[in-house]
Amino acid sequence: MGNLKTLYHLLLNPVRGASHAERLEAFYGPQASNYDNFRKRLLHGREALFESLPVTPAQTWVDLGAGTGASLDFMGARCRDFAHIHLVDLSPSLLAVAGERVAQRGLENVTLHEADATTFVPEGEGVDLVTFSYSLTMIPDWFAALENACRMLKPGGHIGIVDFYVSRKHVQETERHHSPFARHFWPFWFANDNVFLSPDHLPWLRHRCDETHGEESAGGLPYLPFTRVPYYVFVGSPRLR
Ligand SMILES: C[S@@+](CC[C@H](N)C(=O)[O-])C[C@H]1O[C@@H](n2cnc3c(N)ncnc32)[C@H](O)[C@@H]1O
Repeated sequence: MGNLKTLYHLLLNPVRGASHAERLEAFYGPQASNYDNFRKRLLHGREALFESLPVTPAQTWVDLGAGTGASLDFMGARCRDFAHIHLVDLSPSLLAVAGERVAQRGLENVTLHEADATTFVPEGEGVDLVTFSYSLTMIPDWFAALENACRMLKPGGHIGIVDFYVSRKHVQETERHHSPFARHFWPFWFANDNVFLSPDHLPWLRHRCDETHGEESAGGLPYLPFTRVPYYVFVGSPRLR
């Protein structure tokens, strides 16, 4: 029943609202309780991202577009090593689920922020790690969110991203190339939910950061056999300017 309701909101229910925050809440509010269950089968590569992040004790981590705080589970026992973890999201319904998760895990170093990823900066501390797990494609001013992440990081800090994408028409030899169908179909399909797949996110990251880990892959969609939507994992350190 929960999955049917989620499918209705993903496929049929038009997303309405005057602002970005209102549209997010209109989209996520009715699916918040089933969010984690459904997204497990849709949001691929999150394990790979969190396994490849460099984490040392007493660091500060900011998760931008944290949703229900699923990243805490992918980070696992290492959560307790952080001095501070900031979970940032514009949807109060998803943050409420994140709050329950934090309480259940007994994590005392986590703060939730109902705030915009393009402007949020934690008070009074340098940041060692910023992550975006399937949030960049939902942030209209994605370039502002990435610039904000780079600005808040200490020198040598890392940015880690996993998200859907499509390749450019012409790619470098080392990059994966997607068919014309994939490059047009997937952005069209996801735009219905205000998820905007871009050929420019990964080139921006590679232009601005020294890459320490990268993967380009594809994963299935729930209830749609034989479909494979492309995603990437990127970990890097912004170059000093
Ligand atoms: C697909 S969900 C991913 C949630 C979570 N990171 C995960 O891996 O399950 C995208 C999230 O980005 C959030 N989001 C979108 N635009 C945002 C913005 N400008 N500032 C903060 N959060 C934003 C949405 O509310 C949503 O929770």
